Amino acid sequence: MSDILVTGCAGFIGSHLCENLLKQGLKVAGLDNLDPYYSTEWKENNLKVLKKQSNFNFIKGSILDSNLLKDIIKDVEIVYHLAALPGVRNSIKTPVKYCETDVLGTIKLLDVSRNMDVKKFAFASSSSVYGEVPENELPVSEDRKPNPISPYGLAKTQGEEWCKMFEEVYGLKTVSLRYFTVFGPRQRPDEAFSKFIMRIMKDEEIEIYGDGNQTRDFTYISDIVNGTLLACEKGNGIYNIGSNKRISVNEMVDLIEKIMNKKAQIKYIEKQLGDVTHTWSKIDKAKRDLGYGPKVSIEEGIKRHVEWFKMNKFK
Ligand code: UGA
Repeated sequence: MSDILVTGCAGFIGSHLCENLLKQGLKVAGLDNLDPYYSTEWKENNLKVLKKQSNFNFIKGSILDSNLLKDIIKDVEIVYHLAALPGVRNSIKTPVKYCETDVLGTIKLLDVSRNMDVKKFAFASSSSVYGEVPENELPVSEDRKPNPISPYGLAKTQGEEWCKMFEEVYGLKTVSLRYFTVFGPRQRPDEAFSKFIMRIMKDEEIEIYGDGNQTRDFTYISDIVNGTLLACEKGNGIYNIGSNKRISVNEMVDLIEKIMNKKAQIKYIEKQLGDVTHTWSKIDKAKRDLGYGPKVSIEEGIKRHVEWFKMNKFK
């Protein structure tokens, strides 16, 4: 019997969230299908620390399997739904798969949760719901109308809508978190920080999409976990969980070079479909309602991320 279900527990954010919940002494069921979107070895490594804890129950399975969900959720009070096919750019290639996993998977989980007396359902959404935002309208707040430009962004927008619907129609308490490009130890290997640090370590070339002047509100993993816990405890509706600071990809590479004390070999290639130009969060709502505040600076976060790579060698 578990107090909490975390879907996507073998992923980057999911594994950190589980670690935090277990430290609080809570019983956690973790569901993950170990999808080969990226290396299973990487995911097994994320799970290692969790599997050592007696309060952790790992279940390998899919959020599309309603019978399995019923079995797990019958004892659970809180659901953190982080399982998804990730990757904004990759979603351009296989939109149907993104709809199946990220939209239908979310609906199935919501449906079982509303029938099983779940007290709160937290949904991992994304800054990519906003799409292209003109420079003079940044930073963005939650009341801006979503306008996604990738299947992934659309699937997350629809996931939020389904949460809202299940709350209004069935009374299931939900909260949606719009995460802004999360980084730190265990970040997915297909994301910019991980890719760049790994390649610079191995003296390999890195690729910057477009001119590198696109900006991101990079948010450190422990701030994301704190925001998620606070929102699940006190929040309702939708929250931006970001750092409220942004830097360009060129500036990001400068910082990595400085911290690693090594020059990157850079190749500029074409801008990628689905990639928004800028993200930058307003976090006033999360501050006001939740007492959320980002604590880890980009420099400190990169230091920790680089250190983690030194301790964990990947091929
Ligand atoms: C990230 C996550 O991958 C999504 O799952 C998440 O939902 C999203 O953040 C979000 O915040 O909504 P993204 O911002 O594309 O998406 O994160 P990265 O892959 O780390 O890319 C960051 C920036 O680096 C982008 O501007 C991208 O164009 C650039 N980049 C990335 C490169 O120039 N080269 C690369 O090899 C990879």
